[in-house]
Amino acid sequence: MSERPYVIDQMISAKTIAARIEELCTEIRREFADTEKLVVVGLLRGSFVFIADLVRELDMPVEVDFIEASSYGSAMVSSREVRILKDLRGAIESRDVLVVEDIVDTGHTLSHVTSLLKSRHPAKLKTIALLDKPSRREVDFKADWVGFSIPDEFVVGYGIDYAQRNRNLPYIGKVRFVEE
Ligand code: IMP
Ligand code: MG
Repeated sequence: MSERPYVIDQMISAKTIAARIEELCTEIRREFADTEKLVVVGLLRGSFVFIADLVRELDMPVEVDFIEASSYGSAMVSSREVRILKDLRGAIESRDVLVVEDIVDTGHTLSHVTSLLKSRHPAKLKTIALLDKPSRREVDFKADWVGFSIPDEFVVGYGIDYAQRNRNLPYIGKVRFVEE
């Protein structure tokens, strides 16, 4: 972890996040209205808070599974290589799947994970990201739903970490480095 001191400035409040999740869930319920039991796949670890709020607001039959991909380490830059560290427990063939991510940044992680999952022949596969940084994109990837589009800032909170800290903040904040 970097030893540089920083402060966190609130960017998106817990209340604003909750209101946006309500809106998104209205659309998601409509999209999956005919689905018997939706498979909600969270990308570990950053999506764990978002997925918890999302499935409770969805209020429909869901199965929850997780997949872990690495590309980040503890630095503030993405590498291009995406590896699967932990795969799904369940099969998704012929199932309706919603992949849940914290942030789409360069796009490498979600584009890799969605092509992997599509190769398993789900009936339908959609993606949702709480945050999107379109200006950072390196591969052509667009999530089906995005909570908030944000500028190129490094953010933490609501599940998202900086060097494994700050995941438990109830809001999204941006990291600002300060002089000692
Ligand atoms: P991508 O493969 O570059 O799209 O990277 C996506 C992943 O990078 C996210 O799932 C996050 O884990 C991480 N990431 C991207 N931006 C941030 C940030 O601002 N704060 C913390 N993690 C980030
Ligand atoms: Mg992540």
